[in-house]
Amino acid sequence: MSDSTIRWESDADGVVVLTLDDPSSSANTMNDAYVRSMAEVVDRLEAGKEQVRGVVVTSAKKTFFAGGNLGSLIQAGPESKDDVLAQVTLVKSQLRRLETLGVPVAAAINGAALGGGLEIALACHHRVVLDDPKVKLGLPEVTLGLLPGGGGVVRTVRLLGLTTALLELLLQGQQLRPEKALKLGLVHELAADRDELVAKARAWVLANPDAAQPWDTKGYKVPGGTPSTPSLASTLPAFPANLTKQLKGAPYPAPYAILSAAVESLQVDVDTAFTVEGRYFVDLVTGQISTNMIQALWFDLNAINGGASRPSGPEAHAASKVGVLGAGMMGAGIAHSFAKVGVEVVLKDVSTEAAQKGKAHVEGLVGKQVSRGRMSQEKADAFLARITPTGDAADLAGCDVIVEAVFEDTALKHRVLSEAEAAALPDALLASNTSTLPITGLAEGVQRPADVVGMHFFSPVDKMPLVELIVGERTSDEALARAYDVVRQIGKTPIVVQDSRGFFTSRVFGTLVLEGAALLAEGLAPMSIERAALQAGFPAGPLTLLDEVTLTLPLKIRDEAAKAGATDDHPGIAVLRALVEQGRTGKSAGKGFFDWQPEKRVWPGLTELFPSSDAVPFTDAQERLLFVMAVETARCVEEKVLNSVEDANIGSIMGIGFPPLYGGVLQYVDQYAGGVAGFVARADELADRYGERFRPPAILLERAVPAGSVRAAVAG
Ligand code: NAI
Repeated sequence: MSDSTIRWESDADGVVVLTLDDPSSSANTMNDAYVRSMAEVVDRLEAGKEQVRGVVVTSAKKTFFAGGNLGSLIQAGPESKDDVLAQVTLVKSQLRRLETLGVPVAAAINGAALGGGLEIALACHHRVVLDDPKVKLGLPEVTLGLLPGGGGVVRTVRLLGLTTALLELLLQGQQLRPEKALKLGLVHELAADRDELVAKARAWVLANPDAAQPWDTKGYKVPGGTPSTPSLASTLPAFPANLTKQLKGAPYPAPYAILSAAVESLQVDVDTAFTVEGRYFVDLVTGQISTNMIQALWFDLNAINGGASRPSGPEAHAASKVGVLGAGMMGAGIAHSFAKVGVEVVLKDVSTEAAQKGKAHVEGLVGKQVSRGRMSQEKADAFLARITPTGDAADLAGCDVIVEAVFEDTALKHRVLSEAEAAALPDALLASNTSTLPITGLAEGVQRPADVVGMHFFSPVDKMPLVELIVGERTSDEALARAYDVVRQIGKTPIVVQDSRGFFTSRVFGTLVLEGAALLAEGLAPMSIERAALQAGFPAGPLTLLDEVTLTLPLKIRDEAAKAGATDDHPGIAVLRALVEQGRTGKSAGKGFFDWQPEKRVWPGLTELFPSSDAVPFTDAQERLLFVMAVETARCVEEKVLNSVEDANIGSIMGIGFPPLYGGVLQYVDQYAGGVAGFVARADELADRYGERFRPPAILLERAVPAGSVRAAVAG
């Protein structure tokens, strides 16, 4: 077994330790070599089982087992249904043979066991886990548009009961710490270190010669019952409705497939249940949504976090002392992000009292962690001690990174940046969190314009995982690389865009919300607009979003663009002006498209201002929201504001709520029915009917259509 991914070691007690250790990779995955190796191992165990008293399955990698082989799963299309079914059936049958061997099998889980990794462990009779916060257990397949097809659905519903398995593991793909997994009953024992881990697993197999899975034990009752148990049967009809509510109507196929597989699997015997699970798995794997989600949320995200858009020359840089200018909503959030990873922060505002207000916001966030038992008081004290509030720029001495987040005003930003430049280290990075002001212009206010870069965070900073880095005309590769490293240091994902009005995210977000306003002017009912967005997979409707960002913001941006010579007037603008004229500026004023007090409801006056009509079909409304963003993004690529498909996809999903099920805003174009050509034809139809903003730009016609995809066109 020279190229085996599973090492076999037996000892004098008759315990066989199987060590998962793929020689071709730093992590174990369910690749062909694994399937071959597992076949050999199970054959050998069956043949020699008289000499085997027990089996321990562990791993030599940092993680226990990384799961399915996404590189091959993403390739699977409708034509390969039979092959995928055969493969997944084989994987399952091997694990089934392991659990019915007639000897006790224990998993010694030394690192993360997610997806396929947990499925292997679930086929063992006993699970011991290393008690380390880095270890996570779960079945996150749903987050990539898949379901656990290696027996994960069948075994967890039998082990934990239908409701618990669905809610605590399957439908949201939660990743559990060892302690939580123990509490849930997913694993049986924790171990303090690696030696104890294998020792405990060995001891267990020796002490339990008659071990069998619960579901193979006579008289076993699934916790909570099966669908024919009256108490469960009476609640089952609510499951799909609750799921739809939770997904806000977004058309994700995986959660529904998981629900069906889980319920159906409990109505049949274990072996038939595996077949049911396998069929649902195949439908998902060979469908378009899982391809989109794996592409974006795995491959594109990994490419970005792996440095695809970082200049490769400059050495890695970690911030050690950061000066944050402006202790408002954003500045406080940014200070929190740095202090969280152990970096000293000087939080500067107009006065120490003003800066203290920003620190108080961080205290609130940290306090919540403590009260929820997620952070010790000692850690919280140390966390907060790292943030020094001040009103004096001289305290920025020694800072190697400056992040500016004062009011959106060029003159003010010039002043605070140059003040900081003088006080901080002579080569400190000078970053601005501006959401709209050109970086090239901001760099004119300092002595070292090459060190100025845009570092655009999203609100609320402690929750939003994305940062948009903006390269000004004079920004150096060193500055960009440092900015990239600093964003990775705080655990966020940096996309890189070129300096231009609205950069990428704000510009494309603007097209979404204005389209929502335009639909209102054309007579679509407000709730239909919101529903069109939710059912297309957006996390919120455009009118709600407008109320949240305030209606005056797009107007201000529009006015500034007009001053700079822009001429187009979007039909949504008149809608915003009409509301603002009545003092309805958004949620912060308590009234916009919605009345927000005492609870959110559509303002009745809207229908008088914009009488309803059925001129726009619902599906057109949905596609208009998606297309308008995709077309604008294609323009960003054409204008070289964006240079990477990965940055576009991830930026759109993680920054501005583009539906993940389409894999991001450019993947939406590539995956559209008929490919890019199909997208272009539909965009032309929308343009003819609703306006030139939908007209596909030349880059799609001249480069993407011939290349077969935007991805290929940009790569070429
Ligand atoms: P904010 O109004 O909450 O905070 C601005 C802070 O800057 C205030 O605390 C103010 O006292 C302080 N400040 C004013 N002059 C100062 C000076 N001379 N020295 C030090 N501090 C001074 O504003 P917010 O929302 O935090 O925005 C800050 C920046 O972040 C703006 O450029 C904004 O465009 C940008 N931004 C805002 C986002 C948002 O969702 N609010 C999202 C992304 C970027």
